[in-house]
Amino acid sequence: MKEFMKKSKFSQSAGSRETFLIFIVVACGIMATLSVNLFNDLSSDPSEAHVGKSTSPEQPESPSSNVSSVELTDVPLATGTEPLEKLFVQSGCAVCHTIPGIAPARGREGPRLVLGTNGPLRLADPQYHGTATTVREYVQESILNPGAYVVPGYSDRVMPRWYGRRLNALALDRMAEYLENVTE
Ligand code: HEC
Repeated sequence: MKEFMKKSKFSQSAGSRETFLIFIVVACGIMATLSVNLFNDLSSDPSEAHVGKSTSPEQPESPSSNVSSVELTDVPLATGTEPLEKLFVQSGCAVCHTIPGIAPARGREGPRLVLGTNGPLRLADPQYHGTATTVREYVQESILNPGAYVVPGYSDRVMPRWYGRRLNALALDRMAEYLENVTE
């Protein structure tokens, strides 16, 4: 009797184990199907509609006039309190310009920044039509509005136009103060 009970218990539990395994497999299948459907729904419905809506009307217009979303170019480059060398490196100037006294600044895309020497020449150039009257102002203008005067032999549109949005007054002031005094 006891053995029979044991046996039947055993076979019962073996049976229920099988049922349980089958149940798990079926459940997994259902969950997999559901999650695929769900994923498809999520990726097709709201986001696609969103992406479609947000990109298609904006792209034909000028991308820079996109006011609603934050762009990478809106992030400030520096606090302005950094050491000068870091300020020039962090702002990217060092990539394009060689600046005497700023060791990492060895770039050759733009002119050597010796505005103590060249600043007065720029202002005296008949081709100069900017609004600066001092070298300090000329340096600031060159950073904020590079197209105001294009140094002969260099291309306009190489220097970024977004420094006015990414540098605060302190950063601008400290860079201009340094640059206007570099002579050669
Ligand atoms: C992608 C390259 C590039 C970067 C980055 C860049 N510049 Fe320039 N920069 C140029 C070029 C090219 C010119 C010359 C054409 C012109 O006058 O617009 C120039 C011109 C200048 C001038 C006028 C120089 C002169 O002799 O009259 C100043 C000042 C200047 N840049 C400062 C800066 C400062 C400060 C930074 C960083 C905040 C910077 N630039 C970042 C490429 C660059």
